[in-house]
Amino acid sequence: MLKIERLDASYGFLQILWGISLHVEEGEFVGLIGPNGAGKTTTLRSIAGLLPPKDGQILFKGQSIGGTPAYKVSRMGVSYVSEALNLFVDMSVRENLLLGAYSVRDKKRQLETLEFVYSLFPRLKERENQLAGTMSGGERKMLAIARGMMSNPQLMLVDEPSLGLAPHLVTDVFQSLQKLQQTGVTILLVEQRVNATLAITNRAYVLEHGRVAMEGPSSELMKNEHIKAAYLGV
Ligand SMILES: Nc1ncnc2c1ncn2[C@@H]1O[C@H](COP(=O)(O)OP(=O)(O)OP(=O)(O)O)[C@@H](O)[C@H]1O
Ligand SMILES: [Mg+2]
Repeated sequence: MLKIERLDASYGFLQILWGISLHVEEGEFVGLIGPNGAGKTTTLRSIAGLLPPKDGQILFKGQSIGGTPAYKVSRMGVSYVSEALNLFVDMSVRENLLLGAYSVRDKKRQLETLEFVYSLFPRLKERENQLAGTMSGGERKMLAIARGMMSNPQLMLVDEPSLGLAPHLVTDVFQSLQKLQQTGVTILLVEQRVNATLAITNRAYVLEHGRVAMEGPSSELMKNEHIKAAYLGV
């Protein structure tokens, strides 16, 4: 579904990504892990159309999307849930969700998707009239993920949903991602919580200094000595 070949990306003269190659197959849940500043967010922004590649290719369902503007990439079925969340704090949960469906013209379809999203995130249904700005940290993450689903995406790019959350909320958010995958959505998840990420993903890539340092099935990476020493503290 997604194939990146030898991607180079830079901000001005500063090169951040060096020849990244990765792929995500339909229905897969893939992790992208690595330390601060490794280039994880830069990779997602490149896919989402927010940063034109310097070199290399990004293919979505066989079509080149490198350098395609973000609104077009989103219309093609790619949804990007950024670290910043970008919720409208003075609007209700329901209004925020419906804004996520702006590209879906059919009102009936919007409401059907809303009901589906509520079935995945019952807590959002209970709080549909609450202002987004008064939701707890974990609830806000869920709202951002749920809003990302409202455009009926085929591929979701989710950037560090666990950032700043207490451990029990991290579990909640990760469980909702797992539920999402079970509904058939393909997910590329960026995370610093290596253990939890390897526990829920099918495969993962380790990004270090803008290069893919390692890749493989998550269950194998969990046993890898380098991963254990550098990320799992064992
Ligand atoms: N707009 C920008 N202009 C210049 N440099 C940038 C910009 N955005 C990011 N960078 C730099 O690019 C590098 C990679 O950043 P990126 O945000 O992709 O890392 P990350 O792996 O997502 O890190 P983190 O885990 O901290 O979120 C960092 O050194 C960062 O300072
Ligand atoms: Mg980041």
